[in-house]
Amino acid sequence: MFRMVDLIEKKKMGEALSNEEIQWMIEGYTKGEIPDYQMSAMCMAIYFQGMTMEETITLTMAMRDSGDVLDLSGISGVKVDKHSTGGVGDKTTMALGPIIASLGVPVAKMSGRGLGHTGGTIDKLECFPGFTTALSEETFKENVNNIQIAVAGQTANLAPADKKLYALRDTTACVNQKSLIASSIMSKKLASGSDAIVLDVKVGNGAFMENAKDAEELARIMVDIGKGAGKQTHALITNMEQPLGYAVGNSVEVLEAIHTLQGNGPEDFREVVFALGKHMLMLAGKASTEEEAIAMMEETIANGNALKKLHEFVAAQGGDASYVDDPSKLPLAEVVVEVEAPQDGYVSKLEARPIGHASMLLGGGRATKESDIDLAVGCILHKKIGDPVKKGESLCTVYARSNESAKAAVAEILGAYEFSDAFVEKPKMIYAELS
Ligand code: URA
Repeated sequence: MFRMVDLIEKKKMGEALSNEEIQWMIEGYTKGEIPDYQMSAMCMAIYFQGMTMEETITLTMAMRDSGDVLDLSGISGVKVDKHSTGGVGDKTTMALGPIIASLGVPVAKMSGRGLGHTGGTIDKLECFPGFTTALSEETFKENVNNIQIAVAGQTANLAPADKKLYALRDTTACVNQKSLIASSIMSKKLASGSDAIVLDVKVGNGAFMENAKDAEELARIMVDIGKGAGKQTHALITNMEQPLGYAVGNSVEVLEAIHTLQGNGPEDFREVVFALGKHMLMLAGKASTEEEAIAMMEETIANGNALKKLHEFVAAQGGDASYVDDPSKLPLAEVVVEVEAPQDGYVSKLEARPIGHASMLLGGGRATKESDIDLAVGCILHKKIGDPVKKGESLCTVYARSNESAKAAVAEILGAYEFSDAFVEKPKMIYAELS
């Protein structure tokens, strides 16, 4: 009916594609009738010419409808999902999911694996031996019903068009375009059936969006798509100039999430968890004010219910929950190296991207989708922006498998830091909110 070459030409010249053209293109690409080389030319044309809001919504819905759309209506309560656009040290789901579920709000979540300098929730959860996110639709629903939480990987038939397109964008330098990111994320969120969505749009050098204006535009597009599809949607723009929390890797991040559920997490991480959590609780109708929501979250941590929920969640998905009781069982690599401060002063910069890259060099991240990762390597930062340091003090502890990989990581980590003689304020974590 259409010819792909004509659609590429149209987009290349900056024209908007019609709803029929977009639907035809996504259907054809999912079925394998449109080859990757034509679709990658289209993505590059979109990268330079952009898409209108109408095109973006049509693309999202076409990708949502390219596979199964989960029906969670059999589960009582307002099902909430949260999604982060990705960053370094982002172990939010592991702490926030159990906190919210322990308060009786059903959390039905789809998560991904890490790629490049960013980590992924699924890899982190697999630090619990036996843990699986390959859940059938029945088990996913059953777990949400019985224990209020389930985290599944993107199954082959959930938004398959996005799965194919994201992999293509990833290898053709077409990831960081706002309409493409928004439609990719929202197609999966809408297909996974929750009633309400809280979005964590990261901004900074460790995120897809490097400045607040772009992050707000991306958040606006995603919120409008969500609301247009009848889902309550709220977005927070959060800081990713430096890694979130202190731990970057897999086991080390699980450890930090457990500490947070024990009430001993890093302040910046806790702030982001609580900021997202309060909106999840309000959207679910569990709390009517922010103060009430925060008090509920503090209580569920203090009385041990949130940690108990993590235990239950890990066991329900086949993982060894004894690691929750005794996190010292989590594997840590044997070569331990301290990164020493080269001077006195205050930390004025700690770029997230090179820290994520250091974790990748250690083997804790994926250079390509097919790479295997090492759960035991990573780093624990001791000094972040605003902290005073003395020359020779440890900035960061590196856990590596070899002296060579440790050396490469140390060089990356040192390159991420800058220092100032003058006092430096701690950065703000939440820049803006929109709904
Ligand atoms: N995460 C996604 O799922 N898709 C994108 O395009 C970017 C981040």
